[in-house]
Amino acid sequence: MGSSKPVIFVLGATGQLGSLMADKLKGEKTIALRVSSRKKELIPCLKEKFGEAVYLDLDDPRTFPEALEGVERLFLLTGYSFDMLVQSKAMIDAAKKAGVKHLVHLGVFTPKPDCYDPHFAWHQMIETYIKASGIPYTLLHPNCFLQNFTGFYGMAHKGKVIFYTSKKVGWIALEDVAEAAAKILVEGPSKHQGKDYWFSTESLNIQEIAETFSQATSTKFTADARSPDQFIKDISARYQTIDPYFVGVANFFHQVADGRMDYIGEVRDDLPQLIGRKGMTASEWAALHKDELLKFV
Ligand SMILES: NC(=O)c1ccc[n+]([C@@H]2O[C@H](COP(=O)([O-])OP(=O)(O)OC[C@H]3O[C@@H](n4cnc5c(N)ncnc54)[C@H](OP(=O)(O)O)[C@@H]3O)[C@@H](O)[C@H]2O)c1
Repeated sequence: MGSSKPVIFVLGATGQLGSLMADKLKGEKTIALRVSSRKKELIPCLKEKFGEAVYLDLDDPRTFPEALEGVERLFLLTGYSFDMLVQSKAMIDAAKKAGVKHLVHLGVFTPKPDCYDPHFAWHQMIETYIKASGIPYTLLHPNCFLQNFTGFYGMAHKGKVIFYTSKKVGWIALEDVAEAAAKILVEGPSKHQGKDYWFSTESLNIQEIAETFSQATSTKFTADARSPDQFIKDISARYQTIDPYFVGVANFFHQVADGRMDYIGEVRDDLPQLIGRKGMTASEWAALHKDELLKFV
């Protein structure tokens, strides 16, 4: 039985942003939500949680056509890997073949085209390929996730908040990106095609983050501003091999520290026009995540 509701496919529903988006979209009456996983054993659980769940491995484009059948709107998200380039190209090709009518892409904060941090440049190349595909698109540009302090980046540790520059950068709560992205997908291309949206709510250096988290949790957090060189060393201590994506992140810290990427400190918040309110401040986010943050004291 076909459904007359547009099918929205959200990639990354087991990850930080995708899971928040799927939570937002699952109760939405006007659309049909579909999520996926590369882990077959997770599919029954995802079905129970979100309704429709299918198998898709971004590293195997042969799994795309079946997963994309009947999909009208696609949320394209990839993980922290250099594979993002070929994965995204293959998804865009498959989306075109499947007749997808709106592609919403999660990129990074690139307000200037002349940008040469590798992982930022890769996102720009993917955006250019999306535009060339002819599929109506919307491009999302979040700045640094506040979840980097509670998620896998491990930037909060033993009462310290760690960053690899003392410069200010723009921060965004993933709850806000998820709400905006879900709204864009529900409202569809008639309202959002061809648009770029920017998510950078508040500009703070790591000292200011430490003060904010200390106040919000009534517990002392100390700022640990390390040198950009230290990033790869710290990551190497945790992983056996370093994905080129993280060489890109190391580059990011160098270029922010030496001023080439000063724009990363800009505040640019399109949330009011999308969801009718400003983004969460770091203080509001820390209050919401107080229990999680306290695990890192
Ligand atoms: N951190 C930041 O400050 C920041 C800022 C701006 C933009 N971004 C962008 O945010 C994106 C990452 O978002 P996130 O934090 O939500 O990522 P995440 O938590 O790491 O989640 C990645 C998702 O992609 C899935 N995935 C990875 N490889 C896959 C594969 N081969 N096949 C199918 N699914 C696969 C993962 O599934 P599994 O559960 O199977 O692993 C997971 O659901 C990146 O594009 C990054 O450039 C990050």
